[in-house]
Amino acid sequence: MQEILTRTEPILDSTSDVLKTDWRRGYESQLHEEQYWVDDVEGEIPSDLHGTLFRNGPGVFDIHGYPIHHPFDGDGMVCSFMFADGKAFFRNRFVRTEGYLAEQQAGKMLYRGVFGTQKPGGPLANAFDLRLKNVANTSVLHWGDKLLALWEAAQPYRLAPATLDTLGLDYLNGVLRPGDAFAAHFHIDPFCHWDGGAPCLVNFGVQIGPVTKLHIYEFDPAFKLLRRQSHTISDFAFLHDMALTPNYCIFFQNPVSYNPLPYALGWRGAGQCLVSHPDRPTRIIVIPRHSSKGSVRIFETVPGFVWHHANAFEQGEELVIDSVWYDSYVGIEPQTDFRELDFDALPPGMLGRTSIDLSTGATTRRLLDHRCCEFPVLHPTKVGRSYRYVYLAAADQPAGNRPNQAVWKLDLETGAQQIWSAAPRGFASEPIFVPRPRSPEVAALTTPDVGRPLDNSAPGEDDGWLLTLVYNAARHASDLVILDARDLTRGPLAVLRLKRHIPHGLHGSFTSQRFA
Ligand code: CO
Repeated sequence: MQEILTRTEPILDSTSDVLKTDWRRGYESQLHEEQYWVDDVEGEIPSDLHGTLFRNGPGVFDIHGYPIHHPFDGDGMVCSFMFADGKAFFRNRFVRTEGYLAEQQAGKMLYRGVFGTQKPGGPLANAFDLRLKNVANTSVLHWGDKLLALWEAAQPYRLAPATLDTLGLDYLNGVLRPGDAFAAHFHIDPFCHWDGGAPCLVNFGVQIGPVTKLHIYEFDPAFKLLRRQSHTISDFAFLHDMALTPNYCIFFQNPVSYNPLPYALGWRGAGQCLVSHPDRPTRIIVIPRHSSKGSVRIFETVPGFVWHHANAFEQGEELVIDSVWYDSYVGIEPQTDFRELDFDALPPGMLGRTSIDLSTGATTRRLLDHRCCEFPVLHPTKVGRSYRYVYLAAADQPAGNRPNQAVWKLDLETGAQQIWSAAPRGFASEPIFVPRPRSPEVAALTTPDVGRPLDNSAPGEDDGWLLTLVYNAARHASDLVILDARDLTRGPLAVLRLKRHIPHGLHGSFTSQRFA
């Protein structure tokens, strides 16, 4: 593969005011909720792309004019794109959480945000208000017959998949109790060997405190609980994501500690009380999914901070985990406006590979590239397996901390890479990989045995599409861009121009079912 960038305008430096102004406008609140067939399309939506893309992210950055301090504190707004026969239907709705509804009714901010948003009135107004506002803004999952808006510190909110109407908190058929958390980073084991090769949803929940309680849940395709296990970690652990293999759940315990006092006293948000310890190692907690695979083991590797893992796989006695690594955790200080971030002063996230020799306990970590990136994704049937291609949202330029403006593909076997960039005025979000379906004739020939998963995707790990929502500052609106994952350098197969902007978002997922 060749790295080819196509541009019609000059490259802008990350510190340029134009770029910052453009990026900042992607954080304007979007109060409109709409639904329509997207008729402004450049190129052609693939006729065999069928299903629904769901995305989640903060939709507002102020509550009735009072600013939110960190984008992670904004109320969740879910978007859906239903694809059928070369057409797409768009819809967006706020998740009607308890906090969202209460603040709408009151006409003012009533809650502190976990990442630093404080109610008006200073420390006195915030001290000892330790209620969490579940903003349901981090990801969205369709599994069984449930569509769930996820936020890692509380229960999910269930939505109606066709209308995105909020149905209320969901306790997963009694699996969760009030107060239990259900993380935003679920993983789907495509062929679970404990379940005869059927797909299995694996997710976790964390209760944070002086000790950390970690619960792991595994569900069958009808959302019936298959396995549950609970562990106590002897100190504070900030666990946003995990990595999954056929036999293990793997967590990185970043070297950060938590001092709750400034939060309790109303001086800081909870997320601003994390203390980074770049001199301490990252701990890797390897939890067997089944008791036959031994007990929990803990390894250590280099210091750093990881939000997201791309994938993990087992190779004999070796465990390999690919993740986006930062030098250290950087929060947003109480006096700082996140819109004024100095990109050049912050560490970039870079893709790194950690290997653990399970027989000796030795670990290594090496960076795979220096491009600033986030939001790694892969072919869904490669989750937990050795894989060749990873796709990420990434910086337009090969080094330095920059906003995500591009979609980047790495061939982990050859080191080759491809990039499609929306620079200078576009900002890319997490790409979602959608496998191209087999033709019905071929699928009929290859339908697996009863009880086996139906992997209906075409052979070829990169045979599919990447769907990414791009904030296009040139028209202060968003575009859904469809790329051919085999060749990003072709440029978009289709650009679907939405009527308004969707703020810079977080995570999403795709289902082959059509909801609109
Ligand atoms: Co995340």
